[in-house]
Amino acid sequence: MGLCFDSIMDEIAKRPKDSKLYLKMGKHLLFRGHFSESLGFLKKAGKLGDESFDLDFILGKVYLFLSCSEKSIYHFKKALDKIPNHKEVQYIIDTLIEERHFKIESLSVSTVKELFDSYADHFENHLLNKLHYKTPKKLVKFFLEKVEKKEGPLSVLDLGCGTGLFASELERELKNCLLVGVDLSIKMLKEAEKKDLYLKLYEDDLFNYLEKEEKQNTIFDLVVACDTVPYLGNLEGFFKKSCGVIGSESFLLFSFEVLEGLEKDWLFSSNGRFKHSFDYVLSLAKKNNLRGELRFETLREEKGERVKGCFFLGRSIKMNEMAKSS
Ligand SMILES: C[S@@+](CC[C@H](N)C(=O)[O-])C[C@H]1O[C@@H](n2cnc3c(N)ncnc32)[C@H](O)[C@@H]1O
Repeated sequence: MGLCFDSIMDEIAKRPKDSKLYLKMGKHLLFRGHFSESLGFLKKAGKLGDESFDLDFILGKVYLFLSCSEKSIYHFKKALDKIPNHKEVQYIIDTLIEERHFKIESLSVSTVKELFDSYADHFENHLLNKLHYKTPKKLVKFFLEKVEKKEGPLSVLDLGCGTGLFASELERELKNCLLVGVDLSIKMLKEAEKKDLYLKLYEDDLFNYLEKEEKQNTIFDLVVACDTVPYLGNLEGFFKKSCGVIGSESFLLFSFEVLEGLEKDWLFSSNGRFKHSFDYVLSLAKKNNLRGELRFETLREEKGERVKGCFFLGRSIKMNEMAKSS
């Protein structure tokens, strides 16, 4: 289990009654995916008198990964009593309690930021190794299959760039990209920076950023949002503002999770993200003068199940027609 495990065990051997050390080990094991082992150390911390927010918060997470949702809700509620208004805890409780799903219209910027700041250091390990996350790779493949390679560099705006997984995949296939990334989470951006792929990285809400660039008449060849749309409910503003920075030869590309069988455009769901219906995505494409193409895909696995998703690629119609008639 590694050096860190050994050094915490050494500390425990020296101070066996120190509850903080058991909590530290519980966190360490949780972030490495050893949930049952983590639980043993956390319970010991509780027995030794730890009543901290942290202990309930981590216990809530461990029970969540062990699929014990009632115990998980119990600990998250206890944690919220200790720090009311804690955004991440509130978000998880809203996710776990099904009746709340129909009431949630959007996530606040601070909730998303807090969520990804706390996830950043184990994001890639968890997604790539545990959830078999292949969305960036598949989205790049879809894009390259549909689009003719252009001469010269491709300017790309990566909305919700996270740790830069999409950018790495794109760079692997196309060597000459000029990448700009935007994300709310400074910690995700710090991970992205390490990859040394982006010309610029901005810590900003993607809507603010798009507005600023539109005012400066910036045009990108490709605006992409890889696994970012599931954190947005209503997509009207997303389409409108993204289309403000694409030209006649440019593309809007994104992945989304599919909402089926309900007469709704989008819905917050039990995985803590929004799902969107095809009809909704296609109607917004039409409204914004984009010719849209869709492709079904498996995005990742959750609790052994495949998460059904879809890729969208939009090209501008209006501007092409204007160009033709001039
Ligand atoms: C699941 S991650 C995906 C990261 C990356 N695109 C990838 O495929 O690995 C979603 C990212 O979107 C960012 N995000 C969500 N809503 C955002 C917003 N309104 N503005 C900027 N970033 C946002 C989150 O901070 C997070 O880093």
